[in-house]
Amino acid sequence: MSPLLGLQCHLCKSVFPPEAVYACGKCLGPLEPIYDYARVTLTRDTIERRPKNIWRYRELLPITGEPRTGFHTGFTPLVRATRLAERLGVRELYLKDDSVNHPTLSYKDRVVSVAATRAAELGFKVLACASTGNLANSVAAHAARLGMECCVFIPDNLEAGKRMGSAIFGPQILAIDGNYDDVNRLCSQVADRYGWGFVNINLRAYYAEGAKTMGFEIVEQLGWRYPQHIVLPVAGGTLLPRVVRGLRELERVGLVDGALPRIHAAQAAGCAPVVTALANGEDYPEPVRPNTIAKSIAIGNPADGYQVIQTVRQTGGSGISVPDDEIVHAIHLLAETEGIFTEPAGGTTLAGAMALIAQGAIPCDESVVVCITGNGYKTTEVVAGQVAEPVHLSRGFKDFESWQQTRAASHVPA
Ligand SMILES: Cc1ncc(COP(=O)(O)O)c(C=O)c1O
Ligand SMILES: [Zn+2]
Repeated sequence: MSPLLGLQCHLCKSVFPPEAVYACGKCLGPLEPIYDYARVTLTRDTIERRPKNIWRYRELLPITGEPRTGFHTGFTPLVRATRLAERLGVRELYLKDDSVNHPTLSYKDRVVSVAATRAAELGFKVLACASTGNLANSVAAHAARLGMECCVFIPDNLEAGKRMGSAIFGPQILAIDGNYDDVNRLCSQVADRYGWGFVNINLRAYYAEGAKTMGFEIVEQLGWRYPQHIVLPVAGGTLLPRVVRGLRELERVGLVDGALPRIHAAQAAGCAPVVTALANGEDYPEPVRPNTIAKSIAIGNPADGYQVIQTVRQTGGSGISVPDDEIVHAIHLLAETEGIFTEPAGGTTLAGAMALIAQGAIPCDESVVVCITGNGYKTTEVVAGQVAEPVHLSRGFKDFESWQQTRAASHVPA
């Protein structure tokens, strides 16, 4: 039997059965799954012998039967970034690279694998979401794989790659005249009336748990230890608090110990409600109207803003916001030093990490993990015109040689 006991309100601690309920019936607080930890008898050895996907930690995930999808999701590379570390002036830098997560190249495949499995267990026929792009891609792909009907709601200004990244799987796409916060409001009404399985609304408690796996993997891939700092992007605020929930759970079941890392939240300056609240000492973010190239993280009214703020404060971390030009610069730097092409969300995290290192909030002799959560092939618009054009040559060898000689002549010897 699964160790899943039910859903508990984060605020008033009331417990509910593990069904598709969005919020606490008593105080409207967010719900999170609770487990019977006494029945979680995981060892490092058991985990390491399992397939390299999110389900290697399945006792700590909120499903009751067998996984239905996500068999290749997660266990993304944790890359030791030595060239980038040198540029940033830090000793021990790692990149958690979810830009190559399966099947749709963002961290969202973790949360959707869990939500889609739970949706199937609970008998939903239609899988849906409110999305800034990546989530819609992932929901559409998982619904296709499960043979479920699918409807994704997105703002109508998304990048072409994000739109195609959903359309190819054949869902119904509804592009809404408004920003993400407008889309989300509409979807809450649809979820109430139509009983569809919205992964990030009525299935949100299950969906969010999938994000813990990023924390589990970081610890396992570091050889069962915590790093000293983790830098994460924040949009709706699902990922950051769940990574820490995952880190705490690993300690609780006896798989790791030591001091929790400091957790740092990165946002684009054009949409930084959480970072602003942290700076002003507030508990809840004041909603903003987004204006940034980082569209995947352009959420002005984050559903889990409160939890992000609590988590950052409890771990002694910080918030950092970065302007669009620094986001683009970080995308280029990551590509040129480590061969990883990320989208603006990853650029935001890296630019945020760079600013925190420069400020001394991340000391140069401490270990740091920067989470790269999405892929740059979906958002080529943001670097278009900023990279070298190809040199055009005839197919003859002579043409190549004269180009090579001109090049050699213009190179100053070292
Ligand atoms: C690539 C990418 N990174 C990070 C995030 C932030 O997610 P969260 O809503 O968990 O804060 C998103 C959210 O849409 C995203 O698409
Ligand atoms: Zn409550």
